[in-house]
Amino acid sequence: MNAIRFERVSKRYVSEEVINDLDLVIPQGKFFALLGPSGCGKTTILRLIGGFEHPDAGHIFIEEQDVTDVPINKRRVNTVFQQYALFPHLNVFDNVAYGLVIKGVAREEISQRVARVLHKVHLEKHASKRIDQLSGGQQQRVALARAIINEPKVLLLDEPLAALDRSLKERMLVELIELQSELQTTFVYVTHDPSEALALADQMAIMNEDGIVEQVGTPKEVYEFPETSFVAQFVGKTNLLQGTLAQDQAWTLQVPHVGELQVAVDSAKPWAQPGYNALLSVRPEKIEINKTEQVGFANHVVGIVDALIYHGRATEYLVKVGDRILTVFEQNEDHFSRDAIAEGDAVHLYWQRENAVVLGV
Ligand SMILES: Nc1ncnc2c1ncn2[C@@H]1O[C@H](COP(=O)(O)OP(=O)(O)OP(=O)(O)O)[C@@H](O)[C@H]1O
Ligand SMILES: [Mg+2]
Repeated sequence: MNAIRFERVSKRYVSEEVINDLDLVIPQGKFFALLGPSGCGKTTILRLIGGFEHPDAGHIFIEEQDVTDVPINKRRVNTVFQQYALFPHLNVFDNVAYGLVIKGVAREEISQRVARVLHKVHLEKHASKRIDQLSGGQQQRVALARAIINEPKVLLLDEPLAALDRSLKERMLVELIELQSELQTTFVYVTHDPSEALALADQMAIMNEDGIVEQVGTPKEVYEFPETSFVAQFVGKTNLLQGTLAQDQAWTLQVPHVGELQVAVDSAKPWAQPGYNALLSVRPEKIEINKTEQVGFANHVVGIVDALIYHGRATEYLVKVGDRILTVFEQNEDHFSRDAIAEGDAVHLYWQRENAVVLGV
């Protein structure tokens, strides 16, 4: 069953069309990420699911029930907002218990449920602390606890880790994955950070600046097989080469000043025609860089190292090939490489045909 379904949903604010005729399906019990640049309409989509906004057109379904006109408090959906508004004057226990108190749940049951939820988010030792006595990561966990205590069918998370530093963020990523698989609740996680979406999601949707969903798939599908140049560039670094398709025995792409490249093309695509002007996306880590010539690769181009950036775990090479600069990542596997590549060196670049993707748009 689908947890959520948008059917031709449109939403505009005063003069600005944010969501236009959106169809979107979010599967039940999965970690779903909604990825897109700032201002593209991610929070608007969450607010539509939560019932804080009403669509101008279309229908929204939760577990196949039409909730378009169902009020917020009847939707069994909970939100962790971009700014998680905790009550600073209440302690952790009371912050988490709040929703149950409002509902008039019996005191004994409240104690039990709060204890259970605090245990899930590793805060059982901090129940009596005030919010301002907690670290950023602990506050984040209180916000999560407060959102899951009502056992929502869907948990909406709006950039919940934005305020955290990098190491805490990485820890929380792991905890969120564990929490989701334990609860089996549908998580809809909004972010503009591709690395978060790739790390967390079972499925993700990528939206462009105009609020249009360009691709939906597993993190691996969208990273390895992007369908548009926007998706290819938004979910990670890539090299885009424009050229003309040709077909002899196999498909090639003629890229001016770079050469003839062997490419994999799905002949079923409408644009898979000789003469078509296509883009090739080659991710930097798919390219081998070497000072000496190698065999066994479909594609081989030569260039000069224009610059290199040391990143610790990898080195990034900017290599001038024809009139283009290609980016190459190489893992730093050895402390010292005997044959280290330096700026100004002539290098050979290689990649396999299957490790690059031809984009029709
Ligand atoms: N209440 C509102 N009234 C008018 N315009 C709004 C309102 N809320 C949002 N917008 C506009 O709608 C667009 C989408 O906003 P939204 O908050 O959904 O973006 P977002 O993808 O969540 O961005 P961010 O990543 O920065 O949080 C923006 O251009 C924003 O200015
Ligand atoms: Mg937002």
